[in-house]
Amino acid sequence: MVISDDSAAIFTPPVNAAAVGHKYTRIRVDQYAGACGAVISQVDLSTRLDDETVSEIRRAILDHLVVFFRDQCLTPAQQVAFSHRFGDYSNVPFIEPIPGNPEVIAVVREPQERQGFAFGGLWHSDFSFLEQPPFGSILHAIEVPPYGADTLWSNQYLAYGTLSSGLQTALRTLRGVHSATNAYSKKMQVIHDSFVGMKVHTDDSANQTIEHPVVRIHAETGQPALYVNAQYTVGLAGWAPHEARLLLDYLFQHSVQPAFTCRWNWQVGDVAFWDNRCVQHMAMADVSGHRRYMHRTTVAGESPVSM
Ligand code: SIN
Repeated sequence: MVISDDSAAIFTPPVNAAAVGHKYTRIRVDQYAGACGAVISQVDLSTRLDDETVSEIRRAILDHLVVFFRDQCLTPAQQVAFSHRFGDYSNVPFIEPIPGNPEVIAVVREPQERQGFAFGGLWHSDFSFLEQPPFGSILHAIEVPPYGADTLWSNQYLAYGTLSSGLQTALRTLRGVHSATNAYSKKMQVIHDSFVGMKVHTDDSANQTIEHPVVRIHAETGQPALYVNAQYTVGLAGWAPHEARLLLDYLFQHSVQPAFTCRWNWQVGDVAFWDNRCVQHMAMADVSGHRRYMHRTTVAGESPVSM
């Protein structure tokens, strides 16, 4: 897929979200599902958006955790410019960017790839193994299969809020150990080699670990969210592996139950923008024989903090 890219990225400081309870005047926001998700319309993301529009979009992301835009047509530079309205570029390790734009990766599934495997196919919060994981991820559908290959998101405020007060109290004292070892260490190269459309360079730096609070306070909403995920959380600080496994397995299962999720069936031109601080997501690996081609940018976040 070749996309002409004739516009330069515009770098402007990110703008704050509109206030809680703000009445939208620049965009229309329609809730999409019960747990999370909203569709934003009446905005063309390829243009230079004014600050009021950006602050309304940011408000909608904070309120709905993941937002969707339909019928967009973004060059990579336009997608980067849109991302920059929400924050700096967040470094993307291991994955080769598209030619000509170091801030964009292509998330690609080729027709010959096997059903049952997909990049992003395990529940995760993007790059939670980094000291400062990205706040936002923006995925733009360029080519989609005629059915399937949906993406799911799960609301981690709900995941935390629906636990008993006893478990909530216990979890607030814990730190999760995060690592890219099960995704990007050398032992995983064989898996990435089966994703023929993407170039991933595994490296044993992926075995490094970092600790983050198991319950994270969202930097903008101030609300607590569960912050562990099956892809990158490999232990609990100070716990034996077999002890941590039991509790983490419970939390992984609890945190992605259907009542906390929304699911998006992609059409060409769709853009999804989610907040990794309070959702997990996963790609459905239920299609082969068809191509799926998306562009993804990531927006910098802050170090997770506890209560
Ligand atoms: C991702 O994890 O960012 C990929 C999601 C998808 O391809 O649906």
